[in-house]
Amino acid sequence: MHTFFNVSPTLEEWPEPIVPVQSISESGITTVPDRYVKPPPDRPAAADTLSYADDTWTHNIPTVDLAASATSAAAAVSAACREWGFFQVVNHGVGEGRMRGVRDAWGEFFRLPAELKRSYANAPTTYEGYGSRLGTEVGAELDWGDYFFLNLLPESAKDYAKWPTEPPNCREITEEYGREVVKLCGALLRLLSISLGLGADFLERSFGGAEEVGAACLRVSYYPKCPQPELTLGLSAHSDPGGLTVLSADDRVLGLQVRKAGRWITVRPLPGALIVNVGDQIQVITNGIYKSVEHRVVVNAVAERLSIAVFYNPRNDLLIGPAPELLTPEQPPLYRPMTYGEYRMFIRKNGPKGKVQVESLKTV
Ligand code: OGA
Ligand code: NI
Repeated sequence: MHTFFNVSPTLEEWPEPIVPVQSISESGITTVPDRYVKPPPDRPAAADTLSYADDTWTHNIPTVDLAASATSAAAAVSAACREWGFFQVVNHGVGEGRMRGVRDAWGEFFRLPAELKRSYANAPTTYEGYGSRLGTEVGAELDWGDYFFLNLLPESAKDYAKWPTEPPNCREITEEYGREVVKLCGALLRLLSISLGLGADFLERSFGGAEEVGAACLRVSYYPKCPQPELTLGLSAHSDPGGLTVLSADDRVLGLQVRKAGRWITVRPLPGALIVNVGDQIQVITNGIYKSVEHRVVVNAVAERLSIAVFYNPRNDLLIGPAPELLTPEQPPLYRPMTYGEYRMFIRKNGPKGKVQVESLKTV
């Protein structure tokens, strides 16, 4: 059995002092400190880092148009989930102005003085606040990125003391944006359910609720400029532990890469589109019909990059296992049930680790 099943749930403090990557980047260093240098097999190839300037690039994740009929949108979602685990949505209903507004507000937050940002420093207990690392392993490799993490739902998990008071509109616009994206997640879960041949509310019910009582959190990631982007990663390869992720990413400064058939494909967001991927909990509920896919973030020397991820998750206290409706004698359950709260605990200790965690739930 993997050792991370024995994680103590008392993750009170980070094991080492936290240094914001932004402060390293802005110090003017010309080499990446050792802690951020990845072993050679994990480094991005130079071509990957440059691919956003390459017009001949032909691969991109599929697009799903939510203005299409439910039948054709569900078919597009099914194909995208089976082939990629990732897609981008257009006509998604989240207002353009709101998307721009929330990105601008967080861009402004990350430009605030370092001392001010530090006053929101987070701890591994809840992750809420300003942080620069995932996982609590002493001496772990670090990623070239800072973030701000917030709980959105349930309302009882929201701690306004952790929310920035600057810029002044940050809280309001983030909550409005969060509400719209949560609504979108509800629509996406219905499409996913239909695409699996299940009742429209199947996945939402498996998650333990509807829009008002579901669980959602938000992570704003800030990837500063990096003097040696070929040696490090903004975010190491991982699959998302939860249900569904909706990402607002820059359509000019690229960085997100998805693993497909052993290669890393750089995602090029269409202007105004949102990027969607399924997390480990959907892999477990669908018994592997839809798989969470590994992704990572590469950084670059010329521009910083900001992304905003909303994670829509099952309730913490529900046992999540393969849906009986999807099991047959030929397709027995592949994963053992676990509550999402328990699952999150070992993710929090181990940090981004490819697909190790969901693989560990395998029954065979
Ligand atoms: C994440 C993630 C991608 C990005 O936060 O889980 O994969 O582009 N983010 O920041
Ligand atoms: Ni992710």
